Amino acid sequence: MNVDLSTRYLGLTLRNPLVAAACPLNQDAEFLGRLEDAGAAAAVFPSLFEEQIEYQQQQVFGLYEYGTESYAESLSYFPELEDYNVGPTEYLRRLRLARQTVRMPLIGSLNGMTVGGWIHFAKLIEDAGVDALELNVYFVPSDPRHSGEEVERRYLDLVAAVRKAVRLPLAVKVGPYFTSFGHFARRLVDVGADGLTIFNRYIQPDIDLETLDFFPNLALSESWESRLSMTWIAMLRGRLGAYLAATSGIHRVEDLVKLLLVGADAAMLASALYRHGPEHFTHLERGLREWLIAKDYSSVQQMKGSLSRENCPNPEAFERVNYMRALVAFSGKAI
Ligand SMILES: Cc1cc2nc3c(=O)[nH]c(=O)nc-3n(C[C@H](O)[C@H](O)[C@H](O)COP(=O)(O)O)c2cc1C
Repeated sequence: MNVDLSTRYLGLTLRNPLVAAACPLNQDAEFLGRLEDAGAAAAVFPSLFEEQIEYQQQQVFGLYEYGTESYAESLSYFPELEDYNVGPTEYLRRLRLARQTVRMPLIGSLNGMTVGGWIHFAKLIEDAGVDALELNVYFVPSDPRHSGEEVERRYLDLVAAVRKAVRLPLAVKVGPYFTSFGHFARRLVDVGADGLTIFNRYIQPDIDLETLDFFPNLALSESWESRLSMTWIAMLRGRLGAYLAATSGIHRVEDLVKLLLVGADAAMLASALYRHGPEHFTHLERGLREWLIAKDYSSVQQMKGSLSRENCPNPEAFERVNYMRALVAFSGKAI
């Protein structure tokens, strides 16, 4: 039986919903070729960081004073950031090379928290021939004087400014920590986001008990983590007028199928790529096809969103009543 795995994301037609999420592996043209051969439908470049952009501009213009303390501190990581994704000029060179090497859509990515040099680089990334741009806004509101409204405003101003600067389809990648995420998601769409990438994994530091110091500790995700994205995609599907990509915790065919059922237009994987390599995309694509056939679906389009909050038979599964049900149904006993 022939099944159509294609999906639409950010106005692009993808041959299937499997996208390599932003990470440094994807800046290598040869790796992107392997991904494409293995079945990936698109890839997101690693983020170019605001700090890298500002640093380069300061070098060019001889400006060494800038903004906040945390900004100054993050600049001290600049050499390491250069290792991470090679810096702005080389980033653009690699994007162009990647564009010449693979046919699948490529998505650029910018990371930061202020408008800064983003606008300029958003345009350069557009000129490098990418098909879309993802804004990875990673802002930890650590100052208790900042209100939720101020935090949201920062995101909205950023998205609006980039929206004005480029014609590319624009996705905004966000974390889950907003008071009323649905409302904030709508505001992002109102200021020009064509899609949302739900959710970035915020990385909390760990403590080294020998040195009694904090250290960054990036642990790859596990499958269960996809439930947060699943819940929110289910709730927002059909209610925003925007494309929705799922990220975090997509490892197994089951994770992928569930996210599509609630309405994800694309599924973005990074941890699975590190654990299993590009060939994992072949496994997932095959598994998705087999699942659709077994359930008599003729296309991804047909099944996509059939279990969203709008469409599912018991929408209360997403709300408070589910909390009570989960507690009552739990049968764990202390050992
Ligand atoms: C090593 C590593 C580097 C990453 N770098 C970026 C990045 O540059 N920009 C970004 O938006 N996300 C980045 N991410 C986040 C991933 O794109 C992805 O959203 C997140 O890891 C959740 O997906 P996963 O559970 O499949 O890992 C990175 C993740 C990993 C593991």
